[in-house]
Amino acid sequence: MLQGKNRLVLDESARQCMRAAGQFNAELLDFIRDLVIPGVATSEIDAHVEQYTRDHGHVPAPLGYQGFPKSCCTSVNEVICHGIPGDYRLQEGDLINVDLSTIVDGWHGDSSETFLIGDVSAMARALTQCSFDCLYLAIGALTPGCPVSDIGNTIVEAARARQFSVVREYTGHGLGRRFHQEPTIPHYPTKQARRDRLEPGMCFTIEPMINQGTRLTQQDPEDGWTVRTKDGQLSAQFEHTILMTEEGPEILTPTRHGPQPGHQF
Ligand code: MF3
Ligand code: CO
Repeated sequence: MLQGKNRLVLDESARQCMRAAGQFNAELLDFIRDLVIPGVATSEIDAHVEQYTRDHGHVPAPLGYQGFPKSCCTSVNEVICHGIPGDYRLQEGDLINVDLSTIVDGWHGDSSETFLIGDVSAMARALTQCSFDCLYLAIGALTPGCPVSDIGNTIVEAARARQFSVVREYTGHGLGRRFHQEPTIPHYPTKQARRDRLEPGMCFTIEPMINQGTRLTQQDPEDGWTVRTKDGQLSAQFEHTILMTEEGPEILTPTRHGPQPGHQF
């Protein structure tokens, strides 16, 4: 295992720091939940994210990260991830993933949910359900020291059973003092993921992006961030920060008011 300031295995005091960061990130998701309604502009959601984070003495991790211009990602309908909050106003029938990441006393929390705006299509609902179920099935597959590939195997199988596809270009990741670090957590099986193991003390995200049609992606050449499905069909995503412990996985970003395991959309 790596040691030093970027070491991957966290001792008890570092685990407590990550628990605090995860808890704040989840609280922030609960705080913005009531704002994610028809008529709201995604920039308004972002402004509340930044204000609430700063009011609590913390820092929005996305702001300025590799030049990202806002404090959270808002990804609507065919946008897979890294949507930039702006003037777009949510409409009945939309799907939106709100992805929040916070730095709390130097440690990162990272989690996201897909919200259904009013009455949505049966397809949008099924896709959202699939990404939610993929996240919890993957968490349920984890055991101390298991290969990272248990995650991708579980997710690809569950998505395929429902005839949806799994995005490959964007992955989960280790996190701690850094926003993105090893190990890479692909949501599909890879050779490297069969080698990497999730040992007690490791912290990482699982954030499956599930597409209605093709798994292929296209990054917006103009803003350099927004990632869309290549075929313009829908995409949905949920994310938690996980700490592997000696007893098994611990979800560090559970919300009080969001969908709980087993939720039906
Ligand atoms: N959860 C997303 C990720 O880990 C958050 C991206 S923030 C951005 O990639 F600034 F990189 F866009
Ligand atoms: Co993440």
